[in-house]
Amino acid sequence: MYSRIAGTGSYLPERVLTNADLEKTVDTTDEWIRTRTGIERRHIAGDGETTSMLAEHACRRALRAAGLTVEDVDFIVVGTTTPDRVFPNTGTLLQERLGIHNCPAFALETACSGFVYALSVADKYVRLGEAKCALVVGAECLSRITDWTDRATCVLFGDGAGAVVLTPSVEPGVVATHLHSDGRYKDLLYFPYGVSDGFDKLKAGAKQGITMQGNDVFKVAVRTLSRLVDETLAKNGIEKHQIDWLVPHQANLRIIQSAADKLDMPMDKVIVTVHEHGNTSAASIPLALDTAVRDGRIRRGQLLLMETFGGGFTWGSALVRF
Ligand code: ACO
Repeated sequence: MYSRIAGTGSYLPERVLTNADLEKTVDTTDEWIRTRTGIERRHIAGDGETTSMLAEHACRRALRAAGLTVEDVDFIVVGTTTPDRVFPNTGTLLQERLGIHNCPAFALETACSGFVYALSVADKYVRLGEAKCALVVGAECLSRITDWTDRATCVLFGDGAGAVVLTPSVEPGVVATHLHSDGRYKDLLYFPYGVSDGFDKLKAGAKQGITMQGNDVFKVAVRTLSRLVDETLAKNGIEKHQIDWLVPHQANLRIIQSAADKLDMPMDKVIVTVHEHGNTSAASIPLALDTAVRDGRIRRGQLLLMETFGGGFTWGSALVRF
């Protein structure tokens, strides 16, 4: 028994923030942002719009694409770094929005790797026969934890959500997932406030947002993703040329290009949305996937390699026969 992606969906908040808009608020230029990151614009959640709201839109679209309804759903997992609340967890809040009751619903928090981690977990439940219609979601409101006065980070991030529906299949589907994590890198990329650590500072009005040693993150990301590509190909007996599409985490165009080089893959076989969405963390891969499915580039039967890297550090890949 395998799991397969029966449908994809995504959602972006209406408000668009361009590089030109950012030029008016911080000391930056469109040219700097585009040449260093590839980003041209990003979407920002409206007042009162939450991560579970973005996720709800993406899930309804994914269910429609799969020809299924909320009544079919029996498992929900959301990757997010920006949950609506500490609790109830965002999976449960999403479940309530969808009008689904009783099935397991939870969120996991592995920064940009959230969707690949969630996919890996849901895949196991479907393979074991314990879920027949799993919603797997990546959703973020990163704009809420961004320091909009810090030009080194505020130009990078955006909000959005993407989802897939996983159903059982006799053929793969999800061929394999490979997950990794190493907390030794916790101080290179983090948000400084939590509940048991830093809550007092947050309550006192401290303003620091996502904090990153961009250069170091960049170098480790390139090195690590290169090893991850090797591992994924070797463990699954796959040759580079067999992969139809690379669907990478959308953090930075230069990091994406280095992964494509590693695979000897021309950029027209790589799904790139970072220019339109910025870095939407856990939402970025399912957003990119849905974009390319809906515009007809990704077709049934093709082999996809998803790869991701994020705060922690966490990283992982998914090899998927679509
Ligand atoms: N506009 C203009 N200048 C800027 C800006 C800006 N927005 N931001 C920084 N600069 C300046 C710096 O101050 C520095 O100036 P200096 O040389 O006078 O000191 C100069 O530009 C170069 O800064 P660097 O940080 O060295 O620039 P770099 O080429 O490394 O690019 C970037 C920065 C884009 C952040 C890059 O390091 C990067 O993409 N890193 C990885 C990000 C990433 O992948 N994150 C992972 C996932 S995120 C997650 O998990 C939530």
